[in-house]
Amino acid sequence: MTTAAGPTLARTRAELDAALAAPVVARRERHARAVVMTMGALHAGHLSLVRHARTLADRVVVTIFVNPLQFGAGEDLSRYPRDLEGDLALLTGEGLLGPADVVFAPTPEVVYPDGDPWVRVSAGALGETLEGAVRPGHFDGVLTVVLKLLHLTRPDVALFGRKDAQQLAAVRRMVRDLDVPVEVVGVPLVRDADGLALSSRNAYLTADERARALALPRALRAGEQAAAGGAAAGEVLAATRDVLTDAGLDAVDYVVLVDPDDFTPVADDRAGEAVLALAARVGTTRLIDNTAVVLGRTGGGA
Ligand code: PAF
Repeated sequence: MTTAAGPTLARTRAELDAALAAPVVARRERHARAVVMTMGALHAGHLSLVRHARTLADRVVVTIFVNPLQFGAGEDLSRYPRDLEGDLALLTGEGLLGPADVVFAPTPEVVYPDGDPWVRVSAGALGETLEGAVRPGHFDGVLTVVLKLLHLTRPDVALFGRKDAQQLAAVRRMVRDLDVPVEVVGVPLVRDADGLALSSRNAYLTADERARALALPRALRAGEQAAAGGAAAGEVLAATRDVLTDAGLDAVDYVVLVDPDDFTPVADDRAGEAVLALAARVGTTRLIDNTAVVLGRTGGGA
């Protein structure tokens, strides 16, 4: 289905192939096609990925697919928000996607025609730590669908948000380990005016929970300031945790400083880049957030 000025909406593999075969005016030398993968319920964070993709490629493919494989037993797949019409309106608004672009919104039967796949990608150690420890099998499910969507859309470049920093690290690792011919680009996360990182899950927060959730970005800022002042990893973590404790957030899953590439905890005397990541439950909603810090600065100052 195509609208006059908007992108092609492809619901099947055949429709996707036809849309990708359509000629596109090549304006850039390097990237002909970029993909942004989403599960829908789009917000400004997703739109910033699409906007970034627009700067890199002549054809942008946005996939909208709620992937059953990455939901655990206790996680409510049926409760996940779905609003294809709303998503399309956002994508076509402000001319974000044009006639050369494609929105691929398949059903589970299109993505998994033989039912649950027998063969899946394993995220290895990255799938067992932090988010992977709390959500067993989650990253295997993510990587399996990401690899399938890469095969189906055949992009030159794939963009992922830094908000899901562990997911980004896992995708990068899969691409490296399995020699997948695509360039992976990480795009900075987007925050609301009050500092909360944009997430589809924010919609579940009551006003009071949202106010309490602001302790997460506040805690990260405290960690950033400690790192900028030359604090060692342990002190950065303590500064971050203190803010969460003072705010009365007692359901904190983790506060960690990890290597950006493999998400292993950094040593206390680490110098160089690290990801300060945390996860906490506010009410019944589990939120994650992170920021990049540089450790081992001497002499203080930001
Ligand atoms: O980040 C997401 O929305 C999903 O994990 C992804 C990458 C679209 C795979 O289903």
